[in-house]
Order: sequence, then C-alpha cells, then structure tokens
Amino acid sequence: MFKDSFEEQLRVLTDEKDWEGVLKLSETLPLDKKSKYLWTWPTGEALQIIKSTLHELGIGKLLSVGCGTGLLEWIIKESIGAAVYGLEVDRSWWESSYSPISYIKLNFINDVHMDPCFLQECCDTKDWDFGMVFCYFNNGKAFHDYLRLYKGSVVIIIGPAPGVGIHTDPPPLKADFCDSGWKMLKYFNISKDDIISFYTKS
Ligand SMILES: C[S@@+](CC[C@H](N)C(=O)[O-])C[C@H]1O[C@@H](n2cnc3c(N)ncnc32)[C@H](O)[C@@H]1O
Repeated sequence: MFKDSFEEQLRVLTDEKDWEGVLKLSETLPLDKKSKYLWTWPTGEALQIIKSTLHELGIGKLLSVGCGTGLLEWIIKESIGAAVYGLEVDRSWWESSYSPISYIKLNFINDVHMDPCFLQECCDTKDWDFGMVFCYFNNGKAFHDYLRLYKGSVVIIIGPAPGVGIHTDPPPLKADFCDSGWKMLKYFNISKDDIISFYTKS
C-alpha cells in the first residue's frame, strides 16, 4: 500500500495531525525525494506570516490549483486553521494505484465545461470568499483561464526564488496578470529557496 517508508511515516503523522512532525521528517529527506511529495516545504515562521496575511485579507478559505498530493495544503490547514481545497487534472491517474497518496480531497477539472460556479463548488461555497493558490504551477495558459473564471480578490503564487534555476509559470515575483487590475501586496520566503507572493484586486 505504501510506496516507501517515508510515505508510511507521513501517514502516521498526518493521522495524528502532527504537522510539525511532518516538517521535521522532511529535513531527513534528499531533495529528489522531497519534491515527489511536495515542491515547497514551508518553514514554521512562514506559516505564521501566511496566517496573519490571510487574517489581514479576511480570507479563511483557499483553493489550490494543481495541488498534487495536497501535502502543503494539509500542512496549511492543520497549522493555521484555514480551509484548503484542491484541484487537479487527470482523475484516473490520481485515483490509480500508481499515484502517491493524496492528503486532501481532490476535485478534478471538469474538462467538458468549466464555469465560475465550478470553482465555487470546489470550495463548497456560493461566494467568492476564497483565495486561489498556484504552487509550482507550470501552465501559463491554464493560469490565465483560471484568472478569467475567478471573481475573488486574492491570488497566491508559490515558486522558486530568482536564481534557483527552476522555471514556473506563473513565477511568484513576475506573474503576468495581463494588466487586469491585480497588484502584488507582499512577498516573502516560504522556505529557503522558495517565495510566496500575494496579489490582490480591488
Ligand atoms: C509541478 S506540480 C506541483 C504540484 C504541487 N502544487 C506541489 O507544489 O507539490 C504541477 C501540478 O499542476 C497540475 N496541473 C497542470 N495543469 C493543470 C490544470 N489545468 N488545472 C489543474 N491542475 C493542473 C499538474 O497535474 C501537477 O500536479
């Protein structure tokens, strides 16, 4: 059932809701293994700043687009108490025995027709009271498609710091919002090599 002993240890810690234990466990892993589960392993300090920034913005819910295993989302949920929902492509892969374990419930894009209500349904709400997160997302066209659908006011982008040598689209510091009124509010390191940036629209 478990792919390796790390996945097994993760199961024990996540069952116990021990998010600090999960972060500690990640310190023992080599980089290539780490990114199999999660591209960004946040620091405790960064989680506190995320918490206060979400509070400042009046946001208690997040929709993470391209969340992968959802482990970062699980850590955010457990550590700061935000409700975090995930969205992925390719249900058949994520529900197959080859995929890694998912740590949050995944929604899958409705490839027949996507409308704004679909994003709200993923977050169990009829409002636009959730922020939209892209962590190590790498599909600029899809990013713009989601932006057109999203009628909320907070977009969060996580990705490599400049000079790390990894490409993401959107990049955290220079996301292209096509002049649609989005402005960067703040950014800081979420881990040693990664940046989290908050964009808002008034
Ligand atoms: C590099 S992975 C990052 C996964 C995770 N966010 C992390 O940081 O570990 C990018 C993810 O985006 C997903 N993805 C790509 N295009 C997407 C789309 N149009 N809608 C939702 N997810 C998408 C991929 O399936 C993949 O899991």
